[in-house]
Amino acid sequence: MNKPETFAVPNITAQDMDAERLVTYPTEAFLSKDYVEAEKRLLWPKIWQMVERESDLPNPGDWLTYNVAEESIIVLRKDDGTLKAFHNVCPHRGRQLVSVPDFLPSATSAHKTPVHDVRGSNRKNFICGFHGWTFNLEGENTYILDPQDWGNKLTPEMTCLSEVQVDTWQGYIYINMDPDAPSLKDWMGRAGEILSHFDLAGMQYKWRQWAIYECNWKTAIEAFLEPYHVAGTHTQLLAYGDYYALSKQYGLHSVSSYDTRDSKFQMSESAGTTRAGKGDDPRVSTYELIRENYETVNYSASTETLVNAASRLKDELPETATPQECIAHWIKSAKADDAARGVIWPEVPPEIKKEGGLAWGLFPNQNILHGETFALCYRVRPYGDDPNKCVFESYALERFPEGEAPETQWVYAEPTGENWGAVLAQDFSNMEFVQKGMKSSGFRGPLPNPHQEQKVINLHRNLAEFMEGRGAPSLIGNRTQLD
Ligand code: FES
Ligand SMILES: [Fe+2]
Repeated sequence: MNKPETFAVPNITAQDMDAERLVTYPTEAFLSKDYVEAEKRLLWPKIWQMVERESDLPNPGDWLTYNVAEESIIVLRKDDGTLKAFHNVCPHRGRQLVSVPDFLPSATSAHKTPVHDVRGSNRKNFICGFHGWTFNLEGENTYILDPQDWGNKLTPEMTCLSEVQVDTWQGYIYINMDPDAPSLKDWMGRAGEILSHFDLAGMQYKWRQWAIYECNWKTAIEAFLEPYHVAGTHTQLLAYGDYYALSKQYGLHSVSSYDTRDSKFQMSESAGTTRAGKGDDPRVSTYELIRENYETVNYSASTETLVNAASRLKDELPETATPQECIAHWIKSAKADDAARGVIWPEVPPEIKKEGGLAWGLFPNQNILHGETFALCYRVRPYGDDPNKCVFESYALERFPEGEAPETQWVYAEPTGENWGAVLAQDFSNMEFVQKGMKSSGFRGPLPNPHQEQKVINLHRNLAEFMEGRGAPSLIGNRTQLD
């Protein structure tokens, strides 16, 4: 991305992160109303952000609204199959072209259910509900009542909709309100290249849920950016595997991987979700690890095929099988099982698999935990003007046989274990109280783990670049001491 050359802010560098130096950052990005206002000016209108999966707009005339902070964008599919995006505002006197209620109903509002977005199909034009100005799918004005009253001086440029950049990546629709923004390809960078090997474009929704949650959007996404919390939060998972992690910045984005504290146990297969479990018999522990993860993370972060193939390891391999042999056999048989039902795995080169690790934090508000046949993803947005609330979304993607993907839609689900699975409920049980705890006058500021929580640090490093330096991480101590 283009970084402003003249940025004189006390921000840490990518090299500081690679060297795993000790840093801290102020809490204003989480707590300050003024920071929320500044995000509306400096962040959301300037960045590439994910709108929805492309498969939600399959046909010409399909459209939906994407809403973030004060912005509402209409994205639509045109007759020629390409996408177009506009600010959802009428150029006459500023009525929203499509009425988008707040996410949650208020005492005075007419809508009675939570509104994730507004969408529809078969659109030929948009007619403003106020004075009837009309726009075609190119955003051109096609009707104004009494144009002669303006002395016929209104030009097409004055009366068309304001266009927004739109592009796609791996089956996702992205928009950027900044006409001068770098391309989406440049924005995604190496992270985009690595993830594209996993062919997320060939996956579809398995389920998708959302909630309004009581914390800042950063507090929420950070709860999913690092596996350092597994030992403290998801204690039950320690029976099945170790959760030591490493993390690494990739410019705007960053990755985490499973790591081993002792390097002699390191193997390239152990970086992601397909790894051996902990225990005397890897045939059993590998199965137990994957089954436990799958069942307690709302049937995601793996697939039925992988769990079933792991369940057969005990029958198909001798007692003497090593962890490496177990993983190799497991992956081979799951791949064959999937092929038999028409699900073909992408061929991911081993070095990409290793570099691809476990999960990616895509700046600023997305997290994708990926495999060849699945992805578990999070996206968080601010909620109104309140720094203590967010719109939290999680969804699972899976590679399904042709025509067998389930019909899904966004389901509003209160953050409970029943709705989200035991593991997410444990994450929810922290987030609200991190938000509260950071307000304590006794809190000296975060001390993020430079090895395992680098994704969190990187989020703040990059945010500060957009936020005129506000919230920038700084080194603890001075450079000479730390070198
Ligand atoms: S505000 Fe849209 S036609 Fe007047
Ligand atoms: Fe967690």
